[in-house]
Amino acid sequence: MTVPTTMRAVRIVEHGGPDVLEQADVPVPTLGAGEVLVRVRAVALNNTDLWTREGTYGRPGSPEALSGWRGPIDFPRIQGADVAGQVAAVGDGVDDGLIGRRVVVDPAIYDTDGPHAHPVGLLGSERDGGYGEYVTAPADRVHDVTRSPLTDDQLAALPTAYGTALGMVERARLQAGESVLVSGASGGVGLAAVQIARARGARVVAVSSGSKIAAVREAGAHTVVDRAQDVVEQVRAAAPEGIDVALDVVAGDLVGEGLPLLREGGRWVVAGALGGYDVAFDVRRLYLHNALLIGSSMHTPAHFDLLMEMARDGAIQPVISATFPLDQAARAQEELAHRRHVGKIVLHP
Ligand SMILES: NC(=O)c1ccc[n+]([C@@H]2O[C@H](COP(=O)([O-])OP(=O)(O)OC[C@H]3O[C@@H](n4cnc5c(N)ncnc54)[C@H](OP(=O)(O)O)[C@@H]3O)[C@@H](O)[C@H]2O)c1
Repeated sequence: MTVPTTMRAVRIVEHGGPDVLEQADVPVPTLGAGEVLVRVRAVALNNTDLWTREGTYGRPGSPEALSGWRGPIDFPRIQGADVAGQVAAVGDGVDDGLIGRRVVVDPAIYDTDGPHAHPVGLLGSERDGGYGEYVTAPADRVHDVTRSPLTDDQLAALPTAYGTALGMVERARLQAGESVLVSGASGGVGLAAVQIARARGARVVAVSSGSKIAAVREAGAHTVVDRAQDVVEQVRAAAPEGIDVALDVVAGDLVGEGLPLLREGGRWVVAGALGGYDVAFDVRRLYLHNALLIGSSMHTPAHFDLLMEMARDGAIQPVISATFPLDQAARAQEELAHRRHVGKIVLHP
């Protein structure tokens, strides 16, 4: 594969609105030892793209400070965590049999080596990501999925949304036959959680709204409750014995109101705060029932290996709501911000 010296990319030059997304011709990234150069075929959008661009993560003790999720961002920064593509070149020490292979990049930058490391950085935030024709990544973060029946768009939909959902499912130790509550179920993470929990043999009660309810049911939820009405009452009617696990990206009032729905030894996993981060709950509902409240950020390397096996087997079917050419990245991000979609929005460099 011939690699050019320059490429088209979209990068942010400061925090701000969609207008800080700048189209540019930039050098193709230089390969370091142990790295792989990937020709990007599809890059999926995530909420973190919006918040990193806007700088709305705050800092400890300074919640209004402009910041990326782990602190200050180096500008200019090419965004985009979720890359599917083809290996174009490899650096020193990397098997050149990888060249030409179809791959998915694990976007996490981990705190340690080993299968259970914690993610402490992200492609498109702490290093340049996939809003460009090429991206580099460490070879052990690049997964060969050549035999997967999924399309490039579907593969790009996997890393953040499905990785996060699988991280929640694994940290909850969800078992076949258990009942699971999924909030924000029409979104990227929520729809992935519905599919993965269903594939695990769980009984899925999902929370969604309006016209998206039908799509959540189609993705595998046994029951979908409407968040425009009393969620707790509807969940109690759908799962009178209580729920074993909550996979929650909404938090806010749902945590305090929903904890009493847990059965003995239940697990409530939080991975997002769409409904508010300042949460109050009665701690007696936790300790009197040996319940666990678990924070979950993305996935571990072991979770990602498992996810890539599911991709190779076609065990999950990501839903793509829209695709845009790379030069319409700003429009695609605005579409994401409107939250009218079901599933993932994907860019094509
Ligand atoms: N911890 C992590 O590693 C991690 C990774 C990725 C994402 N996240 C977080 O997870 C959350 C969801 O991300 P996503 O990419 O799945 O989002 P998304 O695609 O935008 O979907 C979120 C869904 O939640 C529902 N929703 C929106 N606002 C709500 C509110 N105020 N109250 C209740 N439901 C609401 C909407 O569905 P309905 O209208 O159908 O209810 C929406 O489709 C975000 O907070 C994101 O930051 C965390």
